[in-house]
Amino acid sequence: MVLRRAPFQSIIAPIVYLSANLISRIGVVLVTSAVVFWIFLFPMTVRAEGAHPYLGILEFLILPIFFFAGLALIPLGIWLRVRRERKQGGAPTVFAPLTLQSPALKRLALFIGVTTVINLVLGSLFTYQAVTYMDSVTFCGQACHTVMQPEFTAYQESPHSRVACVACHIGPGASWFVKSKLSGAWQVVAVTFDIYPRPIPTPIRDLRPARETCETCHWPQKFGEDRLRIINNFADDETNSLTKTVLLMRIGGGRTGPGIHGAHLGPGVTIYYTPADESRQTIPKVEYHNTVTGRSTVYLASGAKAEEVNNLPTRLMDCMDCHNRPTHTFSLPEREINKAMAADDISPSLPFVKKKGTELLKASYGSHEEAAAAITAGLEGFYKEHHPDVYAGRRDDIARAAASLVSIYKRNVFPAMRVTWGTYPNNIGHMDFPGCFRCHDDDHVAADGKKIGQDCNSCHQILAMEEESPKILTDLGLQ
Ligand code: HEC
Ligand code: HEC
Ligand code: HEC
Ligand code: HEC
Ligand code: HEC
Repeated sequence: MVLRRAPFQSIIAPIVYLSANLISRIGVVLVTSAVVFWIFLFPMTVRAEGAHPYLGILEFLILPIFFFAGLALIPLGIWLRVRRERKQGGAPTVFAPLTLQSPALKRLALFIGVTTVINLVLGSLFTYQAVTYMDSVTFCGQACHTVMQPEFTAYQESPHSRVACVACHIGPGASWFVKSKLSGAWQVVAVTFDIYPRPIPTPIRDLRPARETCETCHWPQKFGEDRLRIINNFADDETNSLTKTVLLMRIGGGRTGPGIHGAHLGPGVTIYYTPADESRQTIPKVEYHNTVTGRSTVYLASGAKAEEVNNLPTRLMDCMDCHNRPTHTFSLPEREINKAMAADDISPSLPFVKKKGTELLKASYGSHEEAAAAITAGLEGFYKEHHPDVYAGRRDDIARAAASLVSIYKRNVFPAMRVTWGTYPNNIGHMDFPGCFRCHDDDHVAADGKKIGQDCNSCHQILAMEEESPKILTDLGLQ
């Protein structure tokens, strides 16, 4: 019998026969159409590198799904047909004679060989591109435009605007890669069905420990140098009087002593803390351990009861507990206006511009467009009514100030995501949010009476405090 003499044919001939079924054919159609579309789209995505997130989603995520679904349908159709024929009394055991020399077989072998190679190449390209694309800033920041708009906007203005989202949110290594793809799959579902939270809650519960991500670029032992900070503050009066605060930040961690970084992350130091709630803004218990000195100290906030606090989950302090806004830095209206006025985007010689600007920024608007119109009209109206001479003579300055206010609003407030002033607390500092004073409040006390310190000069040397013309800046040639 033909079958027994040539086992090779006994495999191929049934495949030819069995693959002639609807499901396998749909599979073939899917695979070929996905490939044709993909080849057609490819030059566009290459040319417009990162320009259009939706094109990317189609090309790198949806087409590959069709491609692999098609690849899966072909054997599925064959298998279903075998099952059906077995049930109906067995598939034919003898097929039209097919020998190794027959041209039909050679053609089929060639066809299968060539398509397999092409499929392997395309399949791996698909996978590689999908993964690369999903790690791109375009995908993370723009594909779900409204959802990520607050973070993406702030990111573009930050010192990390050239650092990929995944460098902080995923970092190196396979296990976090897999975790991120799993939670990413859920996020895609949440966005598709519009069931995501607004605003996106912070802190992120399962963010990777910062030392594994931040320290791929920053090394705490290297910081060292103290850093000068000059903070300009314009007052609410008619002349917007300017005062300056000058701080020398004890960055630390290197040659100049432990400073801020060394105190929490230096060799041998680990600090665990127990937040009272998800937002980590109230901290009843802090544990300090130092394997170099062998000292361990447990601090309790004065109102906290040990037996209650001990049941709460603790957290190992890392970069994120202070730098929770390294790149999505949302600010407050007064601070933003101070910066814009210092940079002369808003002219400090416009009467009451600090006061009026802050008031306009703090009002509530339904959308960015509404805010832009209302802020511009509000500022112009104010000068027209109260300072007609200024309005007549300085139209350009007023327009420039209004444009700057609008851009401040658009950078910090996102009505669609219910993100407004102060929605996301910043833990660096202690003036706007509890920040450092969540622990350094002179109220966290150890059994031996030792406190987590609040000495003003341990974190920063205060070189000038709200002075009109600080001598230190003159000495340094900075004014
Ligand atoms: C320099 C590191 C860094 C980069 C780069 C970065 N992020 Fe973040 N991101 C953070 C940190 C830190 C948090 C706050 C984590 C916390 O408080 O638990 C955060 C929080 C978020 C949140 C939660 C909401 C919020 O504001 O707290 C979203 C959403 C987010 N990032 C999206 C992005 C996107 C999209 C990009 C790229 C466009 C990006 N991130 C780039 C560090 C980074
Ligand atoms: C892929 C590299 C990379 C990663 C990862 C990274 N950073 Fe940065 N970081 C940079 C670069 C580049 C700068 C800008 C340096 C400059 O402008 O001088 C910067 C600047 C900073 C600054 C100084 C900002 C300023 O105002 O001068 C801080 C603070 C900072 N990063 C914190 C973090 C934290 C916290 C993380 C982890 C969540 C992190 N970085 C992760 C590369 C990185
Ligand atoms: C205890 C809080 C705290 C922790 C923890 C912390 N930092 Fe900082 N970091 C600060 C403060 C405060 C500054 C100074 C900010 C300023 O100048 O206003 C700073 C400054 C920086 C700067 C800018 C340094 C410079 O020379 O300008 C970088 C970069 C930085 N931190 C990275 C990190 C990284 C990475 C980690 C984790 C390994 C980390 N920090 C952990 C509080 C912290
Ligand atoms: C989670 C609690 C916590 C937070 C938040 C925190 N610290 Fe600390 N800090 C500590 C502990 C604990 C010590 C060590 C106390 C000890 O020596 O037993 C410490 C020590 C220090 C020291 C060494 C001098 C001293 O007073 O002992 C500096 C400087 C410092 N922190 C700066 C900061 C700055 C700046 C911030 C905010 C950006 C900050 N810390 C936020 C817990 C915290
Ligand atoms: C635990 C560390 C720590 C202690 C203690 C501390 N500060 Fe600060 N302080 C900071 C940090 C961090 C910033 C933020 C610098 C920046 O803007 O990045 C800051 C900012 C400031 C500013 C500038 C405010 C602004 O408008 O931006 C002033 C003023 C100030 N501190 C005064 C004080 C005084 C007064 C004390 C003593 C009661 C004190 N600080 C104690 C860490 C500390």
